[in-house]
Amino acid sequence: MPGQGRPAIVASVLPADFARLGEDVQALEKAGVDRIQWDVMDGSFVPNMTFGPDVIAANRGLVVMGFEAHLMVVHPEPMLARWVEAGCEIVIVHAEACLHLHRTLSEIRELGAKAGVALNPATPFAAVENVLDLLDLLLVMTVNPGFGGQSYIASTEPKIAMARAEIDRRGLDVELEVDGGIGTQTIRAAAAAGADVFCAGSSLFTGDGTMADRVAAMRAAATEAMSTPA
Ligand code: DX5
Repeated sequence: MPGQGRPAIVASVLPADFARLGEDVQALEKAGVDRIQWDVMDGSFVPNMTFGPDVIAANRGLVVMGFEAHLMVVHPEPMLARWVEAGCEIVIVHAEACLHLHRTLSEIRELGAKAGVALNPATPFAAVENVLDLLDLLLVMTVNPGFGGQSYIASTEPKIAMARAEIDRRGLDVELEVDGGIGTQTIRAAAAAGADVFCAGSSLFTGDGTMADRVAAMRAAATEAMSTPA
């Protein structure tokens, strides 16, 4: 996991073969990713739909690595417990979808899970400044959520840097994750800006070499960038 300059590589299963999802999840663990991100989409918060807790639960026993639920849904509160019961130890809600974000984050922690908040590219870091003490993870979206294979939005880097500075200033134990368009080049920029957890989909499922080669290349690029003084 992240910390002390060791980046975490998180695999989005969005590009997986949904007809062989269990096999792809096992292949990701074998390739050396740190955990899986389940991209939960409801067709309202984002113009796409994916899977529910039962699909995640069906995969829980196939691997030992961690699961995080990225809830790209308009009303995450009613089903918070379902994602934890399905085997996710991290539950990430979108700040834009929560009227009572402080209460929702507290509820996630009361369920025994780690609490995460995701910010869309247009949403400022200020949206979470008053709940940073309730966070175990901050997810800065580097694409507009809904689909894999999109281009990295470099203008999110000042937000990443602002979040890194505030997390460090307060001495908080908060993972700073980025998601969207992350590959061996963009991972360097995101790491240099302050991220330490990197979610990737397309660049893990396709590219040169084996999946393990691609995971290793991503980790090496992030490690180098994280150890290079800004
Ligand atoms: C939101 C999804 C994607 C996915 C990663 O759209 O959450 O960001 O995880 O997709 P890639 O790595 O293909 O951009």
